[in-house]
Amino acid sequence: MAYSVKDKHVLVTGASTGIGAALAIGFAQAGATVGICARREQELAEVLAEVREHAPESRMWIIDLDDLDGLDDFAAEVSIELGGLDVLVNNAGIPKRKHVLALTPEIVEAVMRINYFSPVRLTLAFLPELIERSGRIVNISSVAARLGPPGEAAYTASKAALTGFSESMQVDLGIAGHDVGVHVVNPGVIDTRLFHLPDNDPSLAQIEALPTRAMVDPVLTALDDGTFEIYVPGWFADVVGGKFPDTGAFLAGTVSWARDQAATTP
Ligand SMILES: NC(=O)c1ccc[n+]([C@@H]2O[C@H](COP(=O)([O-])OP(=O)(O)OC[C@H]3O[C@@H](n4cnc5c(N)ncnc54)[C@H](OP(=O)(O)O)[C@@H]3O)[C@@H](O)[C@H]2O)c1
Repeated sequence: MAYSVKDKHVLVTGASTGIGAALAIGFAQAGATVGICARREQELAEVLAEVREHAPESRMWIIDLDDLDGLDDFAAEVSIELGGLDVLVNNAGIPKRKHVLALTPEIVEAVMRINYFSPVRLTLAFLPELIERSGRIVNISSVAARLGPPGEAAYTASKAALTGFSESMQVDLGIAGHDVGVHVVNPGVIDTRLFHLPDNDPSLAQIEALPTRAMVDPVLTALDDGTFEIYVPGWFADVVGGKFPDTGAFLAGTVSWARDQAATTP
């Protein structure tokens, strides 16, 4: 069933920069009132100013999503201040590009906390209200969740967990007869600071990065037409489709590709 965000209340996590900021502005331009949150106050305030040009009732919250036990209270606060939530966009995330031999349990758990446990905690906190309001949940996952890229075991696992949770959740909600749509969004390479953060190995991705605004229309369209999973750019769906008939061969191809990239990267 067609779904419009016009006059809806939307929360976008991790909206201080990058994809979250672009989505927050895009939702506001489409007529939604938008709540945004992240840790960096100045960046978030700048995004809020732009969002408010289109949606004056929009709000921001400074929050560290790593504090999982604070998320129930945060959800309750958002709900009260926005006057109810219709669309939850779990976008906040951290990379961790490190060869598996350089990973520690602490790194793996830190990535899971932000990329998996925090969106799940927020989702569970908001679900009763989303059910009541026939809302939507948009989980920003990654092409990594489907492809097993090199140097991203911790990150890939966290995004695969989020994708798997989304799939089963959509089935459960459907079985229960609830009109709550779940969407998995798999960005490919979008031009954000994610690829330039310290304490990460350099990215091997050689494809041209898309601007963050390229995310907005595909997400609004998926909400509108109910598509469960999208890729941006869309051709990543074909790459993933090519993997599943023979995952072993695909992974062997990835090893060759990564070795070639490493040999030719200055
Ligand atoms: N860029 C790509 O090509 C790409 C590809 C696949 C998936 N993704 C996913 O897209 C999402 C957005 O990433 P991006 O590329 O736009 O990078 P980004 O600009 O670094 O955005 C990440 C956002 O998450 C927030 N965040 C991180 N840790 C947080 C914490 N502990 N508490 C609260 N907020 C936190 C950051 O805000 P603060 O630092 O201010 O807290 C920031 O607003 C992520 O989930 C990422 O995995 C991106």
